[in-house]
Amino acid sequence: MAAFGTVFTPEMSISRFTNNSWSAPELVASGSISLHPGAHVLHYSSTCFEGLKAFRHADGSIHLFRMDKNVARLAQSSELLSLPKIDGAMLSQMITDIVRRFATDVPNPPGSMYIRPTHIGTEASIGKAAAPSLESLLYVLLSPVGDYFSGGAKPLRLLLEDNARCASHMGMVKSGGNYASALQPIMKARAAVQADQVLFCPNGDVQETGAANFLLIDGNEIITKALDSSFLHGVTRDSILTLARDRGMTVSERELTVDELLERAAKPGAEAALSGTAAVLTPVGTLIHAGKEYQVGSGQGGSTTNALRQALNDIQWGKAADTHGWLTKV
Ligand code: PLP
Ligand code: COI
Repeated sequence: MAAFGTVFTPEMSISRFTNNSWSAPELVASGSISLHPGAHVLHYSSTCFEGLKAFRHADGSIHLFRMDKNVARLAQSSELLSLPKIDGAMLSQMITDIVRRFATDVPNPPGSMYIRPTHIGTEASIGKAAAPSLESLLYVLLSPVGDYFSGGAKPLRLLLEDNARCASHMGMVKSGGNYASALQPIMKARAAVQADQVLFCPNGDVQETGAANFLLIDGNEIITKALDSSFLHGVTRDSILTLARDRGMTVSERELTVDELLERAAKPGAEAALSGTAAVLTPVGTLIHAGKEYQVGSGQGGSTTNALRQALNDIQWGKAADTHGWLTKV
């Protein structure tokens, strides 16, 4: 199987914002876009994106998962980056139309169609270091995918990093700059301690990793940081917390310190996991902090993580009732 996100459908949907309005969406070849070298995005990082998936059910029908949430988040990211305002209805239609067009390319479970709506500032104006791009390009790319973590369900090793992933007011924006600023710590963690990911914990506050949210499971309680502007408000996080509540678990959205995490993770039944569209729910087996390694529970993941992942997948794959109305048939 090709690496996650390296295969694309031959066409994508695009709309351009110029003269204060969006052009009618059109399908174009996905192989390239043309940008002025002075485009705002290339200099001042006016870029944001989304990640959502479409799933194939046993009857062959194709379903988008929580598209409304991703459209709303791209609209919010665009606003916080001072990009032109997104037309949510138009974007939802672009997503639905392009997925419908490439419906036969949506893989069977456990694969899915990963959908990458992207919004970039295209105005050619290198003087606008402190001013927004008045022109932009919105496009929806499709990539048939399998597992994001190539180790499959192998529990991950996370290095706890004392610094922030990005500026504290930008964490909730799904913007390229945040990923760029996290890259050096991630590369160093891979080289130094063979960590799979970095768990960013500025001032001892457990936040998120470079591409997923973090959840601690201790018996009947699931603990994760309460929403604030410093980290991404994951759609998968919200879905898993909802499914945990459905199962009668106690959901604690609150501050989690590194000290409490290390203490509770060491308990025999403890579990930890990363949640994300790409990551789904991936178990964490080891936490690394200040030169020491801490095994999470058995170190092998656990039954609650597996059950929550299965409950999410069952809804996505049409094997369980969609009681929360999360699916949209294309
Ligand atoms: N945090 C970061 C930094 C991410 O890149 C992602 C992935 O999208 C998430 C969290 C999880 O968000 P979601 O569940 O909406 O995919
Ligand atoms: C996602 O889960 O959608 C992400 O954006 C994570 C990663 C592929 C960047």
